[in-house]
Amino acid sequence: MRFLWWRLLVFLVVGAWPFWWVYQAWIFALGPDPGKVLVDRLGLGTLVLLMVTLCMTPLQRLTGWPGWVAVRRQLGLWCFAYALVHLAAYLFFVLGLDWGQLGVELRKRPYIIVGALGLLCLLVMAVTSNRYSQRRLGRRWKALHRLAYIVLGLGLLHFLWVVRADLKEWSVYAGVGVLLMVVRVPGVVRRLPRLGAG
Ligand code: HEM
Repeated sequence: MRFLWWRLLVFLVVGAWPFWWVYQAWIFALGPDPGKVLVDRLGLGTLVLLMVTLCMTPLQRLTGWPGWVAVRRQLGLWCFAYALVHLAAYLFFVLGLDWGQLGVELRKRPYIIVGALGLLCLLVMAVTSNRYSQRRLGRRWKALHRLAYIVLGLGLLHFLWVVRADLKEWSVYAGVGVLLMVVRVPGVVRRLPRLGAG
């Protein structure tokens, strides 16, 4: 397999990240409400991984190194896995698995619906991320996987709704999100410098 060590490195780093947070919770380094901090970190981790995944194609164009795109699918699947654990952590630590409270929660935190729509799009992309679906869907596969841009918008909206007044951190993520979209505009793509061959 090409880029085996590189793929393995990405796998280990991204896979170990949440264990580091769990360890921090274990040693009481996450403050008085570690469950809520874990929910937040996993949510932010999902958004960061989505953005990192969306960086791979522009990086390949810029540098000519195919290793970037070789880890793109893995990163996308990790993003989905983080989103699932983010949901599970919310259900466990915030909702306390009290399903009767779900209706009240949705009224109190409507941004959850936005997050759930994002998770649904990630699910569609995850189940069609294999070569078989790629072959079967042909050109439609590419169009379907543009759902990633919708997830980016939904993730940023969900995040904005959570932070509301404190826009400093959010603006940085929104800025990166806009940049990732701008470098995909065909007119911009043509003007981008190419540092490597390929
Ligand atoms: C069913 C799916 C989801 C549910 C139930 C959910 C729920 C939540 C909850 C309860 C919070 C914490 C709010 C607080 O701190 O008071 C949160 C934060 C967050 N979520 Fe989600 N979420 C979901 C999906 C997603 C997805 C798909 C993304 C990213 C694409 C995402 C990104 C975030 C971010 C960035 C935060 C803020 C973290 C911070 O404040 O540091 N969430 N979510």
